[in-house]
Amino acid sequence: MYLKLKPALSLILLLLIHLPFAHAQQKSVDHQVDSLMRLMTLQEKIGQLNQYSDDWTATGPVTVDNDKTRQVRNGLVGSMLNCKGTDRTRWWQEAAMKSRLKIPLLFGQDVVHGYKTTFPIPLAEACSWDIDALSLSARTAATEASAGGIHWTFAPMVDIARDPRWGRVMEGAGEDPYLGSLIAAARVKGFQGNKLGDVNSVMACAKHFAAYGAAIGGRDYNTVDMSERMLWEVYLPPFKAAVDAGVATFMNSFNILNGIPATGNSYLQREILKGQWGFKGFVVSDWNSIGEMVTHGFVKNDYEAALAAITAGSDLDMESRCYKNNLAQLVTEGKVPLALVDDAVRRILEKKFELGLFDDPFKYCNAEREQKELNDPENPKIAREMAVRSIVLLKNQNNLLPLSKSTKTIAFIGPLVKAVKQNKGFWDVEVPGVDSGFIVSQWEGVKNKIGADAKLLYAKGCEIEGSDKSGFAEAVNIANQADVVILSIGERRNMSGEAHSRSNIGIPGVQEDLLKELLATGKPVVVLINAGRPLIFNYTADNAPAILYTWWLGSEAGNAIADVIFGDYNPSAKLTISFPLSVGQIPVYYSHLNTGRPASGQGNTSSYIDLSNYPKYEFGYGLSYSTFEYSNLTLSSDKMKSDEKLVATVIIKNTGKYAGEEIVQLYLRDVVSSIVRPVKELKDFKKIALKAGESKTITFTIDKEKLSFYNQQLKRVAEPGDFDLMIGASSKDIRLTDKFELVN
Ligand code: NOJ
Repeated sequence: MYLKLKPALSLILLLLIHLPFAHAQQKSVDHQVDSLMRLMTLQEKIGQLNQYSDDWTATGPVTVDNDKTRQVRNGLVGSMLNCKGTDRTRWWQEAAMKSRLKIPLLFGQDVVHGYKTTFPIPLAEACSWDIDALSLSARTAATEASAGGIHWTFAPMVDIARDPRWGRVMEGAGEDPYLGSLIAAARVKGFQGNKLGDVNSVMACAKHFAAYGAAIGGRDYNTVDMSERMLWEVYLPPFKAAVDAGVATFMNSFNILNGIPATGNSYLQREILKGQWGFKGFVVSDWNSIGEMVTHGFVKNDYEAALAAITAGSDLDMESRCYKNNLAQLVTEGKVPLALVDDAVRRILEKKFELGLFDDPFKYCNAEREQKELNDPENPKIAREMAVRSIVLLKNQNNLLPLSKSTKTIAFIGPLVKAVKQNKGFWDVEVPGVDSGFIVSQWEGVKNKIGADAKLLYAKGCEIEGSDKSGFAEAVNIANQADVVILSIGERRNMSGEAHSRSNIGIPGVQEDLLKELLATGKPVVVLINAGRPLIFNYTADNAPAILYTWWLGSEAGNAIADVIFGDYNPSAKLTISFPLSVGQIPVYYSHLNTGRPASGQGNTSSYIDLSNYPKYEFGYGLSYSTFEYSNLTLSSDKMKSDEKLVATVIIKNTGKYAGEEIVQLYLRDVVSSIVRPVKELKDFKKIALKAGESKTITFTIDKEKLSFYNQQLKRVAEPGDFDLMIGASSKDIRLTDKFELVN
């Protein structure tokens, strides 16, 4: 029995005293994994590669299987998902402890934007450009989730996304690989904390490997066809950044990439991830993505699917049962070398050891800690801070915002004003024993903020969807009584998210018609747009005097929205994805190449005859209640050798009345190169706080890496020649420019 050989706690302590360094600890983990694997039967090994969903909540198509508990007791399951709370995880772990070798289960969960405390959806958080805040959000989620028995989150999703029809744009960081990479690393570090094995750390999972965000037509799960160059330049960098940040696991993806399903793709998983990048963790399939290779037409049956997946480097089978049902036969028949199975098992067991589950399988099942962490009064404060930093001010005509707290009468109108759960966004986690009472609605947030004498009137006006306008009259009536109207409209929270692609990304139903009627009253209207993706709302954009894009902000949504409306927080977020003018422009993104005939409005140029080329709101756009002046751009030299660094400095002044933060963006263009480069690429940014009237000097350092790209042989090179340097408040609002030359 393994248990007899398993090092007792005293031995572990001894090891910790004598082998204090990471490599020594790794050696010890290797040694323990070796000893354990020597005792395992083939069936038990395959069991470690098998993951089931608990029956409580399903995040994919359910396979009815009443035999799961027996399989766990027989050591035929290595991991569970959708199993949460200390009671439930303890129950399953006790079942695993009845197995012959007592190998603990791993509990995974989609903790994507919070566990009990819900944070803004990831795309909204990304718009803060605030790396520390993003990391703290993930850290807080990890602390709560780990206290609820979770060892592993299926996050962050690091897929670059340039098509807002795709429902999962809400789950990533937007369109840009540079910013996406920084955010990927911040989230991984946040989830994993100081080190795996700390009781408040969870393993992170970079997903979905790879190129899932480029689904044709923005339709979820759809095929991806892209050049190697696009893959390396745009879609792979955030995954590489996650590896560099020490991510413990990867999830592969549902899509076909250039003819080969990602799950059965050796090039992605063996050659790039485990080969070139030296990734030592394990890869989980997506839900039944192994079995779905049959539907793709890549393999004939589940037997061949298992063969393709294990050969390609998919280690853990989420829910398809292809490994469980076929791997033993494949090994016995010599089609799959045992070494491949062993490698996958080893990767998974290593993580179980690193997490400390062999020392104490119930380490994460402490009900007292669960209570304490889930009720930590700091967590809502962190969520509120993250939420205010995620709200994007799109328009503020005549400085309508911020509103005065002593405004006499406010009409708060719209289908989302009193909504509660909607604010949680798509990936809210149903935590056992927790109801939604702690979520702050927009109504509550505003009500709590305004002065005692202020009057707050309410009308729903209409539903999110449908054509019913019967509530308009009441809405117009209260608008007429008010000094100002706040209108809260948008999508339902699950109109974006997995399997929620939309072809029409307008504001649904009659909500914009309601706005039209409210504007006709002549009252000033502040519009709040709640959504999980960039929507198209040209009428609102052109006619409403003030617009806040509030996304889905989580459990503190109401407080955060009120903080911004009434000026307790001066909005600082900027879009990390372009907002199209029309679906016909998609994909539209800032870092495009120049055509030979750039649009000029005349002659045969690359443009639409019925539509501008430019998005409604560009990448990097977002207003503040203040204004910022950019001046005095200086470069340390107009020439740079590739082993040198160039320093650009610029002075930023807050010229408004309010203290505020500005995200100063640095873009570069390689003017002439062997591979045509985008018209601009984000290469750095600084988010700075300035009091009213204050100036600061900002410094950017440009090194060879910032000038490099993949050449024809897909090697990273910086080619000598001219570079344009642009510093701006958005990708379009470039305030200062200069040039320099890279010399040999
Ligand atoms: C499918 C999703 O694509 C993936 O992101 C998620 O982690 C799994 N389901 C598990 O819920």
